[in-house]
Amino acid sequence: MSYKIDLSDLKGIGEDAERGTVTGHIVDFFATRIEAGELAAGDQLPTTRALAEAAGVNHLTAARAYRRLAENGLVTASVGRGTFVSARAAAAEAEGDDWQSYVLPEQHRSYAGEVLQDSYRMAGHPGLISLAVGFPAAELHPVEDLARIAAEVFAEEGPDAVAYGPTDGLPALREQLAERGRAAGFATAAEEIVVTTGARQAIDVAARALLSPGDVVAVESPTFTGLLESLQTTGAHVVGIPVDEDGMDVEALERLVARQEVKLCALQTACQNPTGQTLSEERRRRLVALARERSFFILEDAVYAPLDFDGTHTPRLRGDAPSHVIYADSLSKIIGGGMRVGWVAARGPVLARIAALKTSGDTHSSVLDQHIAARYLASGRYDESIAASLGFYRERCEAMLDALDRHLAGEYRTMIPRGGHHVWVTLERSVPERSLVAEAVRHGVTFTPGGATLADPTGPTSLRLSFGRHPAEQLDEGVRRLARALRAVRRYDRAATSAPVS
Ligand SMILES: Cc1ncc(COP(=O)(O)O)c(C=O)c1O
Repeated sequence: MSYKIDLSDLKGIGEDAERGTVTGHIVDFFATRIEAGELAAGDQLPTTRALAEAAGVNHLTAARAYRRLAENGLVTASVGRGTFVSARAAAAEAEGDDWQSYVLPEQHRSYAGEVLQDSYRMAGHPGLISLAVGFPAAELHPVEDLARIAAEVFAEEGPDAVAYGPTDGLPALREQLAERGRAAGFATAAEEIVVTTGARQAIDVAARALLSPGDVVAVESPTFTGLLESLQTTGAHVVGIPVDEDGMDVEALERLVARQEVKLCALQTACQNPTGQTLSEERRRRLVALARERSFFILEDAVYAPLDFDGTHTPRLRGDAPSHVIYADSLSKIIGGGMRVGWVAARGPVLARIAALKTSGDTHSSVLDQHIAARYLASGRYDESIAASLGFYRERCEAMLDALDRHLAGEYRTMIPRGGHHVWVTLERSVPERSLVAEAVRHGVTFTPGGATLADPTGPTSLRLSFGRHPAEQLDEGVRRLARALRAVRRYDRAATSAPVS
C-alpha cells in the first residue's frame, strides 16, 4: 500500500520522545501535514499496524493517536476501510460557501439532467425563443374553469381543501382516473392507481422501485430527457433501442433480450416524445409477448397519447398485460404542467413499492390540486379541452415543419409527427453539439440537444424542437435564428480546420 506521506519520516518518533508524549508527537506529525495541505480531504492514512512499525511504537499507541486526531475532527475512521483525512478540516478553512463543496457527497449529474434543468431555467428568458421545452400553449390552459372549480372546492370542502390527505391520492380523483382507465385501457380499478406529483415523479419512483445498479434497462432512443435521467441515476445499464415510423424497434429489443437479462423496457406507446410516432399494432403484440416470455417489466409513459392530431385513439398497452406494465401519465400536457397532477397505474408487489417510495418522497401530492383535478375531470371539460387541442397543435406542428423547410431545406431529415409537441430533426452534416447549443443561445433561440435524449449519443447531430407554446410567426423566427446559428458553427469549424498550424 502506498500513502501520500513518507513513512520513513516517522522513523524514531517513538524512540526520541519522552515517555507519555509519543502519542502527541504522532498527532502533531499528521496535524501539521493536514493543516499545510500536504494531506488533503479523503487521503488515506497508514494502517495502525504500518504506523506502529514505521514509528517504532506499539499498536495501541498508534490507535490512540488516530483516535485523538479523530476527536480533533482531522480524520474519520471507517471500519474495514481505514482512516482518512476528514473533509471537515479543509471545510473549516474554506471561505464563504466553499466549505459546502468539501462535505457534500460527489454528484454524478447526467447530461440529460443538466440539459433539462437548463431548459426550464431559460424557458422564460426574455428575448430567447425556447424551442427546448414541451410546455403546452398557455392560451389553452383552462383558467376560467379552474378558477371556478377552485372556488367551489374551498366553499364545499372548507378546511379539507388544504388538509393532509391519503398517501395514495384522494379517492374521488383515483375513481375519476380509474373510470378513464377503463375506457383507455390503463386501469380497471381505483386501487391500481397512485396519484403522483406529475408524470415525472411517476417515472422516477417506478425506475427506483424496479432498478438496481448494473440492471439492464432498454429504452427508446431518442426519448424524454427526464426518463433518461431517472433511469441513469439508478446506476442501471441503459441500452438504447431505435425508434422509427412504427415506434420502438421491437426486433432490436428482441436481439437485446436474447443476449442479456433485461429488467425493464421503458417506452411511450403513442405520439412519442420526441419523434411523435406511435407503436404499430404488430410491434405492440410482439412486445407484450416478449415481456411475458422473458419476465421483464414495461414502463409505459402516455402523457402525449391523447394528443394524436387525427384523434386516433390508441389503446394503452397496460390493458394487454396489466401485471407487466407500469403506467405513467399526467394532466400536464393538456391543462398545463404547473398543476403537477400525475399518476401511476400498476398492480402487485411493484405497486406497493412505488407507493412506499412516493410517500417517503413527499407524503402525498397536493390535496388542493387533486380536489380541483377530480372535479375538472368529472365536469367533462377535460375531454372537450383535448378535442379543442388537436387542430390547434396540428397547425403549430405544420408551422414548425414549414419553417424548417423555409430555413433549413436540404440540411435535415425528420419524421412527420402523428401528435404531441415535438419535431425530431437530424442534420445531414453533423456539427459539434455543444457549440450549436451555445451559438443558438447567442442567436436568441434554444432547443433540446439530441445527445440529452439518446441513451448512446454517438450518431449524427440531432435536435428536438418543441412547437407547443409558440404561434407560427415565432416558430418561424426561432427556426430562422437556429439556421443562422448552424451556419455560424459551420463557419467556425471551417475556419478552425483551414487555419495554418503554427
Ligand atoms: C414523455 C414525457 N413524459 C413525462 C413528462 C413529465 O410530465 P409532467 O410534467 O406531468 O411531470 C414529460 C414532460 O415533458 C414528457 O415529455
